[in-house]
Amino acid sequence: MKIKILGSGAGGGLPQWNCNCANCRSARNRSGDVLPRTQSSIAVSDNGVDWILVNASPDLLSQLRAHPDLQPARTLRDSGIAAVVLSDAQIDHVTGLLMLRERTTPLPLYACAPVLEDLSTGLPLVPLLGHYCGVQTHAIVPGKHFTISACEGLRFTPIAVDGKAPPYSPFRQSSIDGTNIALLIEDRIKGTRAFYAPGLAQMQDEIHATMCGADLVLVDGTFWTATEMIDLGISTKHADDMGHLAQCGEVGRRGMIDWLEALPRGTRKVLTHINNTNPILDPHSDEHAQLRARGIDVAHDGMVLQV
Ligand code: MLT
Ligand code: MN
Ligand code: ZN
Repeated sequence: MKIKILGSGAGGGLPQWNCNCANCRSARNRSGDVLPRTQSSIAVSDNGVDWILVNASPDLLSQLRAHPDLQPARTLRDSGIAAVVLSDAQIDHVTGLLMLRERTTPLPLYACAPVLEDLSTGLPLVPLLGHYCGVQTHAIVPGKHFTISACEGLRFTPIAVDGKAPPYSPFRQSSIDGTNIALLIEDRIKGTRAFYAPGLAQMQDEIHATMCGADLVLVDGTFWTATEMIDLGISTKHADDMGHLAQCGEVGRRGMIDWLEALPRGTRKVLTHINNTNPILDPHSDEHAQLRARGIDVAHDGMVLQV
């Protein structure tokens, strides 16, 4: 399978429109080597023609312009995007659905029940798109694998993870199974596996065991430290408040890099959904060097991963 990182930034992207932190300034002015990043999304394919979009970023149109191969041009109106799978109902992962409204057939949309509920109530994109192309919803269930006919060589398994529903959601304070999922994507011919979780608040043994069986682990790279935004004085939010496990551990708690370190040798490890405050975005930072030393890559827009 082939995975394209369409957007490697967290909500707001890089530079974020109203932010003047060091990374945002550098990315805006191109004064260093901090690359601009669009908001979180990947596309996955088994044949290189038909693609499954996992999360639909508000930056979807610019992402598609940056990837002309997602437009196979088989007919006058066409798209390589065969379907969309959602990991949650966060703004950075769903608002790109609106950009697909010119479709000539209903959009196949795969998401868990609480996400479909949020998208029918608090942020009613599904009924709204009913006035345009229409949406063919498929309720997926944690633990139950599914396939999508356009990419039959891929098998998707949603895995419930700890995370946060969006601020507008009634599930925000008490997440239920399916508000946030990771996806295990398997190539049914090659037997290879990719584990994708752009939002992961807390590791659990079963989730880590699933990661151990994957060739590629592409996970939540939002924050370097849990108090990063508080320390910069730009927010009062702790990583836990937002549903993201920071890369560095705290007393009594392992960070994401500790969990990645414990994966089998040879596992490809990549951090994505990176917040603009995260020092790993600067390739010259000490934090980036620490990742390099541990064999962990930092995703960038346009990165292609062959699994
Ligand atoms: C998050 O994952 O917490 C976000 O990126 C929130 C957002 O989209 O604003
Ligand atoms: Mn996000
Ligand atoms: Zn910033």
